[in-house]
Amino acid sequence: MNTRRESPVGPGRVLIIEPASSGTALVGAARGLGFETVVASFDADDRTVPDRVRQEADEVLVVDTNDEEALFLAAASAHGASPFAGVLAGFEFYVPVAARLAARLGLPGLPVDTVEGVRDKAVMRAATAAAGLRVPRFAEVSTEAQVAQAAARVGFPCVLKPVDSAGSVHVTRADDVDHLLAAYRELAADDRPDMGRRTEGRALVEEYLDGPELSVEGCVGADGRTVVVAVTHKVLGPEPSFVEIGHVVRADLPPATRRAVEDYVGEVVDALRVTVGPFHCELRLVAGEPVLIELAARLGGDRIPDLVEAATGVRLPELAVAALTGLDAAALPSRAPRAKYAGIRFLTASGEGGRPTAEGLARIAGWPGVLESELTHAADTPVPGDQDYRSRVGHVLYTADSYQDALDLGSRITLGVSLALPVA
Ligand SMILES: Nc1ncnc2c1ncn2[C@@H]1O[C@H](COP(=O)(O)OP(=O)(O)OP(=O)(O)O)[C@@H](O)[C@H]1O
Ligand SMILES: [Mg+2]
Repeated sequence: MNTRRESPVGPGRVLIIEPASSGTALVGAARGLGFETVVASFDADDRTVPDRVRQEADEVLVVDTNDEEALFLAAASAHGASPFAGVLAGFEFYVPVAARLAARLGLPGLPVDTVEGVRDKAVMRAATAAAGLRVPRFAEVSTEAQVAQAAARVGFPCVLKPVDSAGSVHVTRADDVDHLLAAYRELAADDRPDMGRRTEGRALVEEYLDGPELSVEGCVGADGRTVVVAVTHKVLGPEPSFVEIGHVVRADLPPATRRAVEDYVGEVVDALRVTVGPFHCELRLVAGEPVLIELAARLGGDRIPDLVEAATGVRLPELAVAALTGLDAAALPSRAPRAKYAGIRFLTASGEGGRPTAEGLARIAGWPGVLESELTHAADTPVPGDQDYRSRVGHVLYTADSYQDALDLGSRITLGVSLALPVA
């Protein structure tokens, strides 16, 4: 595990704010590139530093990461003692504050005057529409009366979503105004904190995009060049909720579609002024044309960076660290891919055959291609919900030799963990 300073291309220190989800991989990636790593975290409640990160980090700076001035003071003092080469957000909520902190410390980062456009979906829609890009019809709402007016403009089916949440929480398709209003009431009444923050009931009502969903994983390097590393195909659960139940890297696209997707994402990156660092851009193909769902200026979640590494050999977390510390990506070590395709399947409690069990997981663990399988909720723990990412109770990571095999193995895994399916 100790990869510390094995390739000292960029000595110095890197600050990572509140690493969670795929952001935890930034710490190991920075260490692998020879940096000392400092993690800034509240280190309590749902912002507790994960054990693996605590082991990997050189230092944990305990500070209320939701208090921008406190974070700035702590970071500036650490920077004064031994300068940082870069500041990275370890979770999407911290992308704007990381940009402002980087600017205050004179380090590479996103432009502070436009950074809200990669966090606030209303600002994002407005910025991309203003750049002339195809985006869904949309309207911002913060009262029930506005919801009904917005629906009249947008039409049905439409999608309701909070402007600044994540994990598909409160993202719902609505086919009529009653359903839409009921979903909005639920969204507005939800005051559960997420990483210490509450949403304000601001939401978007937008046109429902009908078509297959992709995400595009890439990075804008220190040289300002946008690099698309992989295009991911999403496997979605039943609507009206939107639960991603699987991903396959890479999506099977005709070359002309792939080019159109890459060009479109390049324009979105420019429109949102993502001038440096990683991005994960979600879109749907509507009649074969890419239309934006959202772009996040961070690594994709759901273990997508691991799938990308398995299927391409490229480590996105390393690219991200290099970009935000001013390193040339060409100096990074190159690696051979492990397989042609890689996939993940999330196991949900509501799947065919019922809730997956440890025996079910053991049954598929030896199947060819299966790399990793895990139940994240013990059988006797209640499932937190069935409408978003919280309905997932485990996952299985795998590789395959063809796109079709990757899809088929994913389906067989879903069935195999619950039903006694044969291997072949
Ligand atoms: N306009 C739309 N038309 C069709 N489907 C949509 C639309 N907007 C969102 N979705 C679906 O809902 C999912 C979640 O939406 P969105 O990405 O905007 O929210 P999120 O909370 O940021 O989700 P996540 O963090 O899981 O990406 C999308 O991946 C997509 O499947
Ligand atoms: Mg999304």
